Amino acid sequence: MAKKIVLAYSGGLDTSVLAAWLRETEKADVIALSIDVGQETDWDRLHRRAKEAQVADLKIVDAREEFSNDFCLKCLSAGALYENRYPLVSALSRPLISKLMVETAREYGADAVAHGCTGKGNDQVRFEVSCRALAPELEVLAPVRTWGFTRADSMAYAEKHGISIEQSKAKPYSIDDNLWGRAIECGALEDTWNPPPNDIWSLTEKDDSKATGEIVIGFERGRPVSLDGKIMPAHELIEALNKKVGPTGWGRLDMVENRRVGIKSRECYEAPGALALYLARAELESMCLERDLSVARRDLSPKFAQLTYDGLWFSPLREALDAFFANCDAVLDGEVRIALEPGRAYANGRRAPRSLYDYELATYEAEDTFRHTDSAGFVRLWGLATQVWSMKQGPASRGRNQ
Ligand code: ARG
Repeated sequence: MAKKIVLAYSGGLDTSVLAAWLRETEKADVIALSIDVGQETDWDRLHRRAKEAQVADLKIVDAREEFSNDFCLKCLSAGALYENRYPLVSALSRPLISKLMVETAREYGADAVAHGCTGKGNDQVRFEVSCRALAPELEVLAPVRTWGFTRADSMAYAEKHGISIEQSKAKPYSIDDNLWGRAIECGALEDTWNPPPNDIWSLTEKDDSKATGEIVIGFERGRPVSLDGKIMPAHELIEALNKKVGPTGWGRLDMVENRRVGIKSRECYEAPGALALYLARAELESMCLERDLSVARRDLSPKFAQLTYDGLWFSPLREALDAFFANCDAVLDGEVRIALEPGRAYANGRRAPRSLYDYELATYEAEDTFRHTDSAGFVRLWGLATQVWSMKQGPASRGRNQ
């Protein structure tokens, strides 16, 4: 019986060549698996190329809901931004794709799963670590790491095997996208001094209108559930937000980041919807989370981001952190209003039924219920240790190391 391999298939030239190569070299039946996570895809071309590459089967899964609910929103709950900025667009889709690869392998009784990542990136790490965590018995193949094909070799291989090349107006970038955002690298971006060329963007500022406006995002137990009062499922809400916020030009990142494999790489991102959600969530947290809880949360967010970035989504620590963030979410109901201006988005209103903001404690008006007299003793004791130190050893500003 021929070996069966489940291949993560994008419909691009490289994975199409890989499908044909696995069929030929491994004498395998290739099951091409394509996952819709909201990326821009030419589905007709994907079907055509899968056929040309003679895959044994093509399976397409619309995973937009699962991706939004179980991956994007968890990351949002955790306030996870890699290196303080990147909302983990690609890093989030890989574990989901891996999960579906494993499920498909079991469904077809496959011997192995395969991906088309190179040896330089993070995505190989994420696919392999996730697949092995979920199915330690499955073999994971990564032929692109070793086959040594140049771009020209791939084209020649495609031509020889009847796979249509139809280069779309050759953009020199490497792009990965899904409904959470877009990641762009290579081309002119490889010179870190070059400003990002205009043609890399597509979610942000599509026209020149530089839209302005206001949006209201509603949350229930930490989950964004409505936009301008209209309740919608998460994936639709994210897509609607991209459309509203993107035209203002806000939601772009240009950064040099640390890959897991030790390389620094220049990446540009656009994630107007996702970043607007982070902005709104943070406002709601400031209203509803108790001070110590919010400090602890801020300590744990980078850890969650790091684990996700490093391919450790299916790890006990990531799952335990998830439980912590879910606990915080329980009190996060409310609405946040965000003002949109050209290149700028900021919160200018927030309200929450379980807000800890207490008007009577906060106000300077007559309704004030704060017990001002309590403060004198509190402040004296708060500063007592430093006061004693100063009395005995001289004030801090005349300390020993001066
Ligand atoms: N650097 C990002 C990450 O590792 C994005 C990589 C996605 N690939 C791309 N072709 N831009 O998550």
